[in-house]
Amino acid sequence: MPAFSASAPGKIILFGEHSVVYGRPALAVPVTQVTAKATIAANPKGASGDIQILAPEIGLDSHLKDLDVRHPLAAAIHKIASSLEIKHLPACTLKVTSTIPVAAGLGSGAAVSVAVIRAFSAFLGHPLPDDEVCRIAYEIEKIHHGTPSGIDNTVITYAQPVYFVKGQPIETLPVGRAFMIIIGDTGVASLTSVAVGDVRKAWQNDPTHFEALFDSVGAIAQSARVAIENGAIELLGPLMDANHGILRKMGISCNELDVLVNAARRAGAWGAKLSGGGRGGNMIALVSTSQAEKVAAALIEAGAKRTIITEIRP
Ligand code: MEV
Repeated sequence: MPAFSASAPGKIILFGEHSVVYGRPALAVPVTQVTAKATIAANPKGASGDIQILAPEIGLDSHLKDLDVRHPLAAAIHKIASSLEIKHLPACTLKVTSTIPVAAGLGSGAAVSVAVIRAFSAFLGHPLPDDEVCRIAYEIEKIHHGTPSGIDNTVITYAQPVYFVKGQPIETLPVGRAFMIIIGDTGVASLTSVAVGDVRKAWQNDPTHFEALFDSVGAIAQSARVAIENGAIELLGPLMDANHGILRKMGISCNELDVLVNAARRAGAWGAKLSGGGRGGNMIALVSTSQAEKVAAALIEAGAKRTIITEIRP
């Protein structure tokens, strides 16, 4: 059997994180500058069913039989085998590598899952279709996050801009005119599961207030969708600023994120907000092509550990 490889991109949420967990719409786009990659090679000398799993970046060198069934990589393999109704897996080695920072709001967990599901099912001779890849990746997201909306596995599986509503069929997001986003990394690791759990507690304590915040973000995401489709990019900056203000009210920004958001605005970005789970991780800023380098430099000056410039094209 030859080796099989698959890659999957990272992602950013443009509008609607957290509210999307509560049924409001959100917009997300793939980030192809960072990727997760899975490679599976047969191991003809190995005992039947022995699957070695290597993930050098997290120091993992183990075997499927020794991992907890809830370990995301073990869970992926078990769920692929179950989806394909394969009882006896051939001896092989799975290697996972990724350039997507972990716990940073860029979808590293979902990207690893999608890459593994694609590579492993192809290795087994039955490459799974996108809808099944997305479904299995969502099951694994539940292990990572508890109550995920499904937006990360969806945008990463389909690798296209999406308009996403939890539980609804995927809708891709037509882009009327190209626009540029700078992603700035606070370098503060933050688990999405913790931020999502904290918003849940706050919502349970004051449902009326939080439902109103979620509604406001949902309305912002709807307006942003129309603006993106119509190529009215100038409308997106104020919408980003408004979305960030509401995320702050939800209690999921932090000093490092606010410092970068303000630095981007001062350097001429049209708008900026945190992106993903919050409490650390990444922020995004909307910029013109001519401002991009200046805003990126201002973010580094203000403490960003790195920046990525990405263009969202029609
Ligand atoms: C994480 O990328 C986005 C959140 O809205 C969680 C989710 O949708 O599952 C914070």
